[in-house]
Amino acid sequence: MVDNKGPSKRKLMFAIILTPIFALGLIFLVLWLSLRAHNPKFHLQEFSIPGLGQTNGFQNSHIVFNVTVQNPNRRAWIFYKAMRGSVYYKDHLIAVEPVFHSHYYQGPKNTTVLERVFCGTMTASTVNNQRRLEFKSDLVKGTVMFSLKFTSDVKYRKSVWDTTEHRMRVKCNVGLGPDGSMLHHFRGKRCHVHFK
Ligand SMILES: *[C@@H]1O[C@H](CO)[C@@H](O)[C@H](O)[C@H]1NC(C)=O
Ligand SMILES: *[C@@H]1O[C@H](CO)[C@@H](O)[C@H](O)[C@H]1NC(C)=O
Repeated sequence: MVDNKGPSKRKLMFAIILTPIFALGLIFLVLWLSLRAHNPKFHLQEFSIPGLGQTNGFQNSHIVFNVTVQNPNRRAWIFYKAMRGSVYYKDHLIAVEPVFHSHYYQGPKNTTVLERVFCGTMTASTVNNQRRLEFKSDLVKGTVMFSLKFTSDVKYRKSVWDTTEHRMRVKCNVGLGPDGSMLHHFRGKRCHVHFK
C-alpha cells in the first residue's frame, strides 16, 4: 500500500496537468476543422473554337466554353474579386477577357456555371514561325492542346470575412480536334486550382 502511494500520486498529478492541455488541443482541433475553408472546384464541361480549322491561323474567332465552379463548403461563402479568363496555345496568349466584371459572391454549396464566349486570334502576325509550324503539325496529327486559365483574388467568409486575400490560379487543359470541337475524354475534367 505504502509503496504504491508515490507512483499513483505522480500519476494523478500528471493527469491534472495533462487533461486541460489535451482538452485545449481538442478544442483547437475542432475549431480549426470547422473554420477551415475548402478551395472551389472547377470542371471543364465544354470548350470549342469553331474557327480552328484554317491552317493559317484564326482571327477574331469565337472561343466557347462552359466551366462549372463549385463551392464545396457547407458554411463558407467565397468572394471572387474580378475574375479574369485567358486562353493559351502553349505559351502563346490567344484571348484574355473578364469573367466577372466586378466581384462575385458564391454561397455555400453553390455551383455557378460560367458559359462564356471569348474572341481569340492566332495569326502569322501574332505568333512566331516555330509556334505556327507546331500548330499546323498538331492539326494534322488531330489534337491541338489549349489551356484555359482563370485568375482572381479570393476571400472566404464564415462568420466574419477572412481578412487575407488569396491569389487563385486555375488551369484547365483541353484537347481539340481539327474541327475545333473538344475531344471526348476532356469533357468534365477537373481543372488544377492553385492558391498562394
Ligand atoms: C454547362 O454545363 C452544365 C453542367 O454540365 C450544364 O448543366 C449546362 O447545361 C451546360 N450549358 C450549356 C450551354 O451547355
Ligand atoms: C448559385 O448562385 C447564383 C448567384 O447567386 C445563382 O444565380 C444560382 O442559381 C446558384 N446556383 C445553385 C445551383 O444554387
